[in-house]
Amino acid sequence: MPRVTPQAIPIEVRGLVKRYGELVAVDGVDLTVEAGDVFGYLGPNGAGKTTSLRMMLGLIRPSAGEVRLFGRDPQLGVKALEGVAGFVEAPSFYPYLSGRENLRLFASLDGGDALERIEESLGIVGLAGCAKDRVGGYSHGMRQRLGIAAALLRKPRLLMLDEPATGLDPGGMRDMRDLIRELSAGGMTVILSSHLLAEVEELCNRVAIVRSGRIAYQGSLAELRAQAGDSYLLRTSDEARARAVLAAQPGIEGLEATADGTRFGARDESAVGALSLALADADAPILELSRRHATLEDLFFSLTEGDAPPPAAPAADGAPRRHPVEAA
Ligand SMILES: Nc1ncnc2c1ncn2[C@@H]1O[C@H](COP(=O)(O)OP(=O)(O)OP(=O)(O)O)[C@@H](O)[C@H]1O
Ligand SMILES: [Mg+2]
Repeated sequence: MPRVTPQAIPIEVRGLVKRYGELVAVDGVDLTVEAGDVFGYLGPNGAGKTTSLRMMLGLIRPSAGEVRLFGRDPQLGVKALEGVAGFVEAPSFYPYLSGRENLRLFASLDGGDALERIEESLGIVGLAGCAKDRVGGYSHGMRQRLGIAAALLRKPRLLMLDEPATGLDPGGMRDMRDLIRELSAGGMTVILSSHLLAEVEELCNRVAIVRSGRIAYQGSLAELRAQAGDSYLLRTSDEARARAVLAAQPGIEGLEATADGTRFGARDESAVGALSLALADADAPILELSRRHATLEDLFFSLTEGDAPPPAAPAADGAPRRHPVEAA
């Protein structure tokens, strides 16, 4: 944690770790969420998203590392969470009470002028029309929206949401995205977890991709797209011979045998040109040699799948540990 922390930074996380026995659910996460960000915390099931958010909200204690929300430690209780609201997994309500009555209970706990914000919050999330109905009869999407209404009672500057659109139908997902955009346009900083790249792509300006508790990438989506890089596909009449040529060819890397042929990456186009001559020399006629534009999805899967988590660069003189992709 830097010694001088500007108070205005909504979230700073340094070296965050959570261990459950042998399992390291969150493994050295460094994260910065700037004011105005809609920040996507993206990763597959079990990557440690909810556990990270729980620590950020002060609901569980980190095994190591630190969280600062607007410069304050959320472990220090309610005062430290001023201006912050959110929920993990699903919000909980009394099913026999109406949406409005549930919000009244929350507002009386929150104190201040929360009671006066109930109607406005219901309106923002689009529940004014069913506020008198019992929550037990609400759909999943309505409950998620009521959870956000409950968060809005606190007049947050920072909203933390754990998979807010998961389990919603396409219409519900769109409504949730519109709502988050609206809140962001109103000046709120948002962090949301998701396992859906498309959702994060649509909503977020910055993203952290988390895999097995570690950050595999952190930065803007535009930079991530730039990193994705293109690949090539080669099919010849003699695949074994072609692979030997590929393996020996300078500037050619990342060979992968697929059903369609061999996929590889190239340093530049001239490396591909040289390859085609080398294949002809080796008597391995080319049937197909094509460039394939990488999608963000390819990169997401390459960052979140495979056997081993990406290796972390060693910490240098006490500097926060940076991961290779982030450091690139
Ligand atoms: N209280 C706990 N006790 C033991 N293990 C836990 C506990 N909470 C989480 N874990 C484990 O930590 C890992 C990360 O869990 P977490 O719920 O944070 O993942 P997630 O990214 O939110 O996954 P999902 O997309 O399924 O919600 C998992 O292997 C999970 O089983
Ligand atoms: Mg989760």
